[in-house]
Amino acid sequence: MTILFSEKMRNLLHVFKSTLILLLLINVVISTPPEDPIKCLSNNTTCTITNANGIFPDRSTCKVGEVKYPNTEAELISVVALATKNNIKMKVATRFSHSIPKLVCPDGQKGLLISTNKLNKILKVDVVAKTMVVESGVTLREIISEAGKAGLALPYAPYWWGITIGGLLGTGAHGSSLWGKGSAVHEYVVEIRIVSPSTPQDGYVKVRTLDESDQDHLNAAKVSLGVLGVISQVTLKLESIFKRSITYLSKNDSDLGDEIISFGRKHEFGDVTWYPSQRKALYRIDDRVPINTNGDGLYDSIPFRPTLSAELAIVRTAEEIKELTRDAKGKCIDAKVITIALAALRFGLTNNGSLHEYPVVGFNNRMQSSGTCVDSSNDGLFTACAWDSRIKGQFYHQTAFSIPLSLVKYFIEDVQKLVDLEPNSLCGLELNNGILMRYVTASSAYLGKTEDAVDFDITYYRSKDPLQPRLFEDILEEIEQIGLFKYNGLPHWGKNRNLGFVGAIQKYPNAEKFLKVKAEYDTLGLFSSEWTDQVLGLKEGVTILKDGCALEGLCICSEDSHCAPNYGYFCKPGRIYKDARVCAFHDVKETEGQSVLKDEL
Ligand SMILES: Cc1cc2nc3c(=O)[nH]c(=O)nc-3n(C[C@H](O)[C@H](O)[C@H](O)COP(=O)(O)OP(=O)(O)OC[C@H]3O[C@@H](n4cnc5c(N)ncnc54)[C@H](O)[C@@H]3O)c2cc1C
Ligand SMILES: *[C@@H]1O[C@H](CO)[C@@H](O)[C@H](O)[C@H]1NC(C)=O
Ligand SMILES: *[C@@H]1O[C@H](CO)[C@@H](O)[C@H](O)[C@H]1NC(C)=O
Ligand SMILES: *[C@@H]1O[C@H](CO)[C@@H](O)[C@H](O)[C@H]1NC(C)=O
Ligand SMILES: *[C@@H]1O[C@H](CO)[C@@H](O)[C@H](O)[C@H]1NC(C)=O
Repeated sequence: MTILFSEKMRNLLHVFKSTLILLLLINVVISTPPEDPIKCLSNNTTCTITNANGIFPDRSTCKVGEVKYPNTEAELISVVALATKNNIKMKVATRFSHSIPKLVCPDGQKGLLISTNKLNKILKVDVVAKTMVVESGVTLREIISEAGKAGLALPYAPYWWGITIGGLLGTGAHGSSLWGKGSAVHEYVVEIRIVSPSTPQDGYVKVRTLDESDQDHLNAAKVSLGVLGVISQVTLKLESIFKRSITYLSKNDSDLGDEIISFGRKHEFGDVTWYPSQRKALYRIDDRVPINTNGDGLYDSIPFRPTLSAELAIVRTAEEIKELTRDAKGKCIDAKVITIALAALRFGLTNNGSLHEYPVVGFNNRMQSSGTCVDSSNDGLFTACAWDSRIKGQFYHQTAFSIPLSLVKYFIEDVQKLVDLEPNSLCGLELNNGILMRYVTASSAYLGKTEDAVDFDITYYRSKDPLQPRLFEDILEEIEQIGLFKYNGLPHWGKNRNLGFVGAIQKYPNAEKFLKVKAEYDTLGLFSSEWTDQVLGLKEGVTILKDGCALEGLCICSEDSHCAPNYGYFCKPGRIYKDARVCAFHDVKETEGQSVLKDEL
């Protein structure tokens, strides 16, 4: 029965496939804005918060007692003072809450969320000094746009503009560059004003202005996971606006391991999108060009545009069926269709409003970040961001780590060896536009990158059912563990599943310095939670052991029950990294000699 049904569905989907490419071509301009991640019973009390995906890695619910929306720094100060006086746990929340891990959740059910939603003003743009002062709830989009209007540029930035300056500093967010101070936004911060708890003598609150004369504190506050207090204002060092020239070049990936470093050194804004099962690497050749170079380019990333809900549902259903029927080849076919469609659409690059041969040249502020799906007209969910939890859309795990340049070749070669063993295993990643590889540099921030590195973003299918394994579960888990443990990858603080943070803090030589500043700023730990304590190595329990825990990345399996024995997934060593422990599919249960898959069908 299952098979008959899915054959029919598959035929149906082939008909849809050509429609899908057509749909991708439609330039939708309105969209339903993302949902407020905070929901309250009444009067801004008795609330819950999640993230932009509507779910934390452990699928828990985060309850809070109250949400406050300060309009000014003065209001913010009194909010922090009052909560400190009453010994209430606090966390800072942002308009969209784009980080995946449970950073935003205060302990207990009576905690306070301080939203930066109304701290959204640009305070000063100094064209001569090339600086900009903003409140912490200002989004990356506004920073880029306001700077651009003044003839200024934030040179490097995350590719997604729906995040706030306070939030992106919290997790060390970045774009791609090995040049200058590198791609992390916190490298361009020259001053931070931060509001923290304090003693009764201080009126329970202290406001500090940190600048380059106080390197120790600034290095702690630049990437703080939100545990030092509330960042109120940020001063950014900008430069004069400039133009960029972008060409996408697709090559086979046989020499990717050798090319990756020299490519990054050669191209100021370069990145690489890797399609490992297609054995292709897409090089984004992206350089600064003279300002008088012709071109009015715009980069409007296709996955970040408002997308038709119907299209998202078709794509999701197609993948669910392929998971159910173990149709890895089918995923590979779909991945190729999507890759070809994206390439035909120049990945969202246009010149003067239309498709154009490479290179596409344009001003930095129009080429560096995008995210039109957050736009705030309301079309009743006809279109939305792909991951909007109110519709049937993208539902994924994301593993993101950076590997030092000196080791990155070996990591790439290990992944290539796994693809040689299982050629179809990574087509699922390609459905999510492959592995994005971006350059980051060593930072003076205590929780910033420790070495020049390549950051890998790996996005893959997550079942709505936490106990349901995925296709090539073992290969994906092995890659995750190779990156994190064999090559000591540093997890992105704002992405990843729980296991990404196992031993993470030990990888930071300056962690102690960070913890010292934290103890000074927030003696009582009011801005800390169980999760941030675990991540910072102050408490055990970053991973959770229970049935099926490895499927959700809550643990590394050590026994079969952590996988899905009833679906034929057992805990095994990795194929090439023998220290890995992964949930591997075995058609025949070795101990009982009985076909589990047959039982399922
Ligand atoms: C579609 C998408 C694309 C992305 N692209 C990139 C990318 O290109 N590069 C990249 O590096 N990352 C990227 N990310 C990850 C994202 O940049 C980070 O997760 C970022 O931290 C989210 O910012 P936010 O404003 O949503 O903050 P939140 O996720 O709400 O908060 C992050 C942390 O900062 C704390 N915080 C927030 N504001 C303050 C404040 N004012 N004072 C003190 N603490 C504060 C919060 O309490 C929390 O601990 C992407 C995420 C998504 C969903
Ligand atoms: C809501 O809050 C206001 C001011 O804090 C208070 O006066 C009012 O009684 C509250 N209403 C409810 C229903 O709790
Ligand atoms: C209550 O929440 C809304 C947003 O949902 C906000 O606009 C408003 O300012 C809040 N009220 C108070 C008193 O904080
Ligand atoms: C990949 O491309 C190189 C040239 O860039 C070529 O020498 C090599 O044979 C190609 N490999 C495959 C598998 O096509
Ligand atoms: C850009 O497009 C507009 C309208 O489509 C056209 O009038 C203009 O000439 C174009 N400019 C260039 C430089 O091609």
